[in-house]
Amino acid sequence: MVDDAERGLKKGLTSYGDSAFSLFLRKAFIKGMGYSDDALDRPIVGVVDTFSGYNACHANVPDLVEAVKRGVQLAGALPVPFPTISIHESFAYPTSMFTRNLMSMDTEEMIRAQPMDAVVLIGGCDKTVPAQLMGAASANIPAIQLVTGPMMTGSHRGERVGACTDCRRFWARYRAGEIDDQEIAEVNTQLVPGGGTCGVMGTASTMALVTEALGMMAPGGATPPAVSADRRRIAETSGRLAVQMAAQDLTPDKIMTQEAFENALTVLLATGGSTNGIVHLAAIAGRAGLKLDLDQFDRMGRDIPVLVDLKPSGQNYMEDLHRAGGLPTILRELKDHLHLDCLTVTGRTLGENIDEMPGGWTQSIVSRIDKPLYREGGMAVLRGNLAPGGAIVKQSAASPDLMTHRGRAVVFSSVADMGARVDDPDLDVTADDILVLQNAGPKGAPGMPEAGYMPIPKKIAAAGVKDMVRISDARMSGTASGTIVLHVTPESYEGGPLALVRTGDIIALDVPNRTLTLEVSDEELAERRKAFLAPVHDGCDRGYKKLYMDTVTQADQGCDFAFLIPHPSGSVPGAK
Ligand code: FES
Repeated sequence: MVDDAERGLKKGLTSYGDSAFSLFLRKAFIKGMGYSDDALDRPIVGVVDTFSGYNACHANVPDLVEAVKRGVQLAGALPVPFPTISIHESFAYPTSMFTRNLMSMDTEEMIRAQPMDAVVLIGGCDKTVPAQLMGAASANIPAIQLVTGPMMTGSHRGERVGACTDCRRFWARYRAGEIDDQEIAEVNTQLVPGGGTCGVMGTASTMALVTEALGMMAPGGATPPAVSADRRRIAETSGRLAVQMAAQDLTPDKIMTQEAFENALTVLLATGGSTNGIVHLAAIAGRAGLKLDLDQFDRMGRDIPVLVDLKPSGQNYMEDLHRAGGLPTILRELKDHLHLDCLTVTGRTLGENIDEMPGGWTQSIVSRIDKPLYREGGMAVLRGNLAPGGAIVKQSAASPDLMTHRGRAVVFSSVADMGARVDDPDLDVTADDILVLQNAGPKGAPGMPEAGYMPIPKKIAAAGVKDMVRISDARMSGTASGTIVLHVTPESYEGGPLALVRTGDIIALDVPNRTLTLEVSDEELAERRKAFLAPVHDGCDRGYKKLYMDTVTQADQGCDFAFLIPHPSGSVPGAK
């Protein structure tokens, strides 16, 4: 238990060399906002406000802050909102991944610097929840995650649409000449019909579900839509729980254990979750002192089927999953694969939380475990001479006929090179070729852009081809689909074998056997390596970009900064 002298406003006093004066001064300033001594003597719950005019996924944060405050006050404590960085996917240059670690450092340092006994983290858009959990794991004060919740779907000419699987689908149709300028402009106004996070099983939905499975979110908190009354009630509950967690000193290290991360990885696989989820879970686990073991994760994936019929692996949207009972419906099916005794933010176990949640009615979104949507987990880990450190493929969203494929590489040396040449009518490419993108990894772009969903060359798309094998060290939006190999490690910028591939080389992809092979001799690769030069980026000699380039780790370590990762005390998943 925490000493009373270390609670509330007395916590972490600013250093003036006289602690009584420090408290006197602190009280004087906060009283300037009208607080009474009674209010200031209460436990304090910080509320992280990530509203931003640039972030439609966080449009409801002001409402959620009010609901959290209500919950905190009903439980007898004082809520104090404060801002941190807010990141939106489409408003972050060069990429949102580039700034995720900055947000995690901001979150960690602000919850450590300011007096609070617990904190409610309000996030939602893709990078925000990982950043907040990374910061909370490092600061290790009682913390509960609240997400903004998914947006509702829109309607385009009678068809239900939502960001952002449909964004990509309509754009691909536009590129292929199937729809005209007027229709693409029309659908642009319907894809994001209101505030909230992308309504498919993209990264935001994935992170919401795995966070609830991890035990860091109020039960049932992952799926209520952003505009719903349920969402505000979860916010109020989160405020109440934060007060209880402060009293019990229920810190993240007691919740985010090896078994809890295994639960989160199980849900990642069973939902056909975003490939970004594995990078973010590696980073969060890394902060908790656990190293992600990709081979154990792959082994786990062979036993966990995909159960959730949401785009891009399936057909539905998050609002449908919420009506089907949300995560508890999924967890009930997965019970035999979960550690039900893991402690959660409620102070009870995951198993106890599941038993208390409503559910069990007939629904068509979550399959029974004996009748899954896809026999194996959503992701597979590939290894071979092209990816000695591993690569990821989202097999549940890939084309079955391309899972075993041998083809000629067509290489793009950077994202810019791809943009300049992919639609060139003279590009020597066929549908059987394999598109390879270099220098799009954590350092190569930099910021590991979601460029792994490489466009099908226009002349091939126009012939009706919907998928090709694509390989890169980039990431891919969780809302995208296709036979796409991602996160090739080590990345090409670091001199990984991906950097040595040349147009015309033969590559063999074998997902069932988990291999990715560049059919070029070791001698030839050694010759090519002698000529390797990493690209030079501008502006790397100062500021955050220098910090990023000097310290960012590879995808298998979650692209966290090396100096933020403690020495690991174990790995996850643990060996069976
Ligand atoms: Fe924010 Fe998709 S862009 S969740």
